[in-house]
Amino acid sequence: QNEKDSQFIVSNWAKDHYQKLLHETEEGESIGLSYLMQRGLNQTTIKTFELGYSLDQWDDLLKAAQKQGFEAKYLEKTGLTIVREDDPNRRYDRFRGRVMFPIHNVSGRVIGFGARTLKANDKTAKYLNSPESDIYHKSDVLYGLFQARQAIRTEEVCYLVEGYLDVLSLHQGGIKNVVASSGTSLTESQIRLIGRYTDNVTVLYDGDAAGIRASLRGIDMLLEGALNVRVVLFPDGDDPDSYIRKVGDQRFKEYLEKNSQDFISFKTRLVSQEAAHDPVKKAEAIREVLQSIAKVPDPIKRQVFLQQTSTTFGIDEQVLITEYNKLVKKDS
Ligand code: CTP
Ligand code: MN
Ligand code: MN
Ligand code: MN
Ligand code: MN
Repeated sequence: QNEKDSQFIVSNWAKDHYQKLLHETEEGESIGLSYLMQRGLNQTTIKTFELGYSLDQWDDLLKAAQKQGFEAKYLEKTGLTIVREDDPNRRYDRFRGRVMFPIHNVSGRVIGFGARTLKANDKTAKYLNSPESDIYHKSDVLYGLFQARQAIRTEEVCYLVEGYLDVLSLHQGGIKNVVASSGTSLTESQIRLIGRYTDNVTVLYDGDAAGIRASLRGIDMLLEGALNVRVVLFPDGDDPDSYIRKVGDQRFKEYLEKNSQDFISFKTRLVSQEAAHDPVKKAEAIREVLQSIAKVPDPIKRQVFLQQTSTTFGIDEQVLITEYNKLVKKDS
């Protein structure tokens, strides 16, 4: 039995342990489960994603693991426990008093955890995540992919959201083809992972400034990964989870249909809001869009996007292509 196997086993055991605490203890039910219900999640969703709860104690998991005969080094390597600074021979649980979101790899094995605090004004982070380990490489993982992969294939599109709760709420609302990059900005390897299942991605990031910025970054990376990209913006202050809770499943789906825009329209609309009557800003806006088009590996698609940009901005196509060529040369 090798190193990685042991880490898989202890992670799976911890997932079972946190699940039992959620469903079978007074603290788990009254604090963890009731929180999840209050967030609108039902038993099916909670079971499908194997959600759990960690007791608000320093060593509940540690003790239970020792009782099972797990070696401390595997708890340490998977980040389930942390070595005490004042006494390196002693450890404590990383996750305490939190709702636990197991993170699965594509074959459904647990490789790490996200953990949300339940305290209104916690001094520590709202979410804690497992550190990198031999089995958990954040940048190679998409939260929810294991539960989404079939639907991504049949629907021929992958919805990309920011957070755990966004994945859960959409899945529960019947939109099962949804994954999150949770906690990291999108990576090349996550994009390759999506590309195994579909060529089409629709970005559903939070409707705040940070979400828009992340969308813009994400778009260029997805384009470079040869994926077709659409974007849906949510009202400021909403994320996909809060929005689907607000309007209901049906209206949410209609909202996606009505508000999904290709990346050119998205960028155009963003930059042209202020640029409408300002030729200098408009020129900047066009260059922004051209920069994105330059990321597209397929020359035929690039051609189509250039045509579209010329129509959208009412700029002669030859002028645009000349400008595009200048821009590309400058960058190379
Ligand atoms: N995240 C994280 N660490 C934090 C904050 C956020 O890892 N301190 C990650 C989590 O995966 C989170 C995602 O970034 O789900 C999006 O963050 P945010 O929008 O702030 O949280 P929500 O998912 O909307 O969570 P909630 O609705 O519970 O507030
Ligand atoms: Mn890696
Ligand atoms: Mn946010
Ligand atoms: Mn949220
Ligand atoms: Mn959010």
